[in-house]
Amino acid sequence: MQVVKIGLLGLGTVGSGVIQILEQNANDIQNRSQSQIKVSKVLVRNLNAPRAIAGDFTLTDQADDVLADPDISVVVEVMGGIEPARTYILEAFKHGKNVVTANKDLLALHGHELLDAAKEAGKDLYFEGSVAGGIPIIAALKQSLTGNKISEVLGIINGTTNYILTAMTEQGRDYHEVLKEAQQLGYAEADPTADVDGLDAARKLAILASIAFNSRVTVNDVYVEGISKITAEDISYARELNSTVKLLAVAKFQTDGIEVRVHPAFVPNNHPLAAVSGVFNAIYVVGDAVGETMFYGRGAGSLPTGSAVVSDIIQVARNIKSNSTANINCTCYNELAIKSEQD
Ligand code: HSE
Repeated sequence: MQVVKIGLLGLGTVGSGVIQILEQNANDIQNRSQSQIKVSKVLVRNLNAPRAIAGDFTLTDQADDVLADPDISVVVEVMGGIEPARTYILEAFKHGKNVVTANKDLLALHGHELLDAAKEAGKDLYFEGSVAGGIPIIAALKQSLTGNKISEVLGIINGTTNYILTAMTEQGRDYHEVLKEAQQLGYAEADPTADVDGLDAARKLAILASIAFNSRVTVNDVYVEGISKITAEDISYARELNSTVKLLAVAKFQTDGIEVRVHPAFVPNNHPLAAVSGVFNAIYVVGDAVGETMFYGRGAGSLPTGSAVVSDIIQVARNIKSNSTANINCTCYNELAIKSEQD
């Protein structure tokens, strides 16, 4: 049986979820990948920090212990942030590793550099966990819907703001009070302004638009407006108009370019996105052949995001077994104008 050794960069919420899933579903994962997948080394910032998760792996605080280990074939980056994650991933490719990452901040800014590096190294780069946690939207866009011309991607892709707007709408609660609650529940980013100002959704939208339209969209291309100015009055206007206020991420393909924007919107109650409440995420995709589709689920959290990361690890193990790389990365780019102004 093929053994695939994993080097994990980071042991926070997502990293712990990955280890838990690999352990609890080990038999099925072995059957489905025809491999024994083993986490062999884990890079952590502080070797002495108390940890809830244990296992048969070595902890290290030296990145090179993982990146230069010849036995490790897959580096899984779940540390987040731009640096040093970007350098570590580029280094991993130089050492001939495949990479799985859940890092939306990094992909939304440097995704294309990383895809080019993967291509040059002839290695895989998978990133299902970077958008909408456990919802398999990246695989859907890259594979299942790849026969379509996608015209539109509309998403509720930030759980924190959807949680806040839902509580304001359904319970008439105060914005600041619910934000505090979302932070306590661990939904919000370390700096919740990334959530409420729309930046987190814009990062995820840049990744989705790049794949859906086979283009190069970065977070800087996206028009962004958050929810901090939404008042109880806005909520009640929406109600009068049979609509619900949502923070919408919108990517549209038009003859003269791509439109990418994140802003609060009145979503008519008869649209399926209006019913997406609480921390749930959903992505509504329209393709010329398939018509309307919608993907729904948990957009954050240890196990939902871990589920996406583990599925990527399994896919890499299958590719190693069949001696192929994914090559479903965006490798050919449309030169499309990007229109990020709100109309
Ligand atoms: N802060 C993010 C959210 C976490 O609320 O959706 C998942 O990316």
